[in-house]
Order: sequence, then structure tokens, then C-alpha cells
Amino acid sequence: MSAAITYAWRDPISDEEMVDLVRSHGGAAVAGWWSRVRAHSLGWVGARDGNRLLVGFVNVAWDGGDHAFLLDTKTRGSHQRRGIATEVVRLAATHARAAGCEWLHVDFEPHLRAFYLDACGFRVTDAGLVHLPTSG
Ligand SMILES: CC(C)(COP(=O)(O)OP(=O)(O)OC[C@H]1O[C@@H](n2cnc3c(N)ncnc32)[C@H](O)[C@@H]1OP(=O)(O)O)[C@@H](O)C(=O)NCCC(=O)NCCS
Repeated sequence: MSAAITYAWRDPISDEEMVDLVRSHGGAAVAGWWSRVRAHSLGWVGARDGNRLLVGFVNVAWDGGDHAFLLDTKTRGSHQRRGIATEVVRLAATHARAAGCEWLHVDFEPHLRAFYLDACGFRVTDAGLVHLPTSG
């Protein structure tokens, strides 16, 4: 982990900063997305470099009780493979635990198994998924 990076729970991330972060790793940024979803979060972690540039993010949704859900882990393209995402996930887990959650869920594409299982310590479980627009 870089010493110059600082991490904050509920970091005041603007929608413009989120769009820039998503574009930085080649993602399809949608203006307004972060402003819309933020209200439904238990919290989120932002990581910033020494110039306060947003370089990492993870969102934590929840059911209002025991279950928290990790969503949208992102690290700026220029800052990947330095341990930033591992640290934002670790802090997200710490804050979800402090909020009284018992379980932290995540799902991910197969190429990220090493990240979530090995680096972040998640274990494999049975889970289910339906793509609602193309089902029913
Ligand atoms: C996935 C992502 C968040 C990882 O961020 P990161 O800050 O680079 O991750 P870390 O440096 O903490 O990685 C820790 C370890 O996880 C594994 N890992 C990280 N990214 C990986 C990748 N893209 N592919 C395979 N393994 C990966 C590696 O074992 C890595 O250790 P190493 O660098 O010593 O090999 C980043 O690649 C990203 O933003 N990707 C685009 C968005 C995305 O796909 N998000 C996931 C949503 S589920």
C-alpha cells in the first residue's frame, strides 16, 4: 500500500469525481449514477492520493440488518496493483462490522477470484443471480 494514499469512510465524493474514476479504468461512466445510488448505501470508502485525486472506491449496500453487500470496487487505472482496492475493501468490512452487520457479500467475475478470495479474504459460497430485464 502506498503511504501517500489516504482512505476515508463516507468520503464526500462528487458525481464528477466518480465519472472520472470510472473512465480512468476504462469503465462505462454514467453521469448522475453516484448521486442517485449514494442515498441507499450503508457507506462507502474513498481513497485519495497526495493531491486529493480520487484513486479508489468501494460501495457498501445493506439490508438494514445483518447483511452488507460490497459493490463497485474501483481503482484508478494508473494506480492499480498497489494494494488500494484491498485496503478499501478491508475498511469497508471494518465499518460494516461496526454498524452491526454479520455478513459481507460480494460477487465477481472469475478473473477476480485472486483479488476477492486471496487478497480480501472472502470465501466461496453458493449464490444465485437472475438478470431481470431478460428473464420472466
Ligand atoms: C479489480 C480492481 C478493483 C483491483 O484493484 P487494485 O487496487 O489494483 O487491487 P490490489 O492492488 O489491491 O490487488 C491485490 C491483489 O488482487 C489480485 N488482483 C487485483 N487485480 C486483479 C486483476 N485485474 N486480475 C487478477 N487479479 C487481480 C492480485 O493478486 C493482486 O495482488 P498483486 O498485485 O500482488 O498480484 C481494479 O482492477 C479495478 O478497478 N478494475 C476495474 C473495475 C472492476 O472490475 N471492479 C470489480 C467489480 S466486482
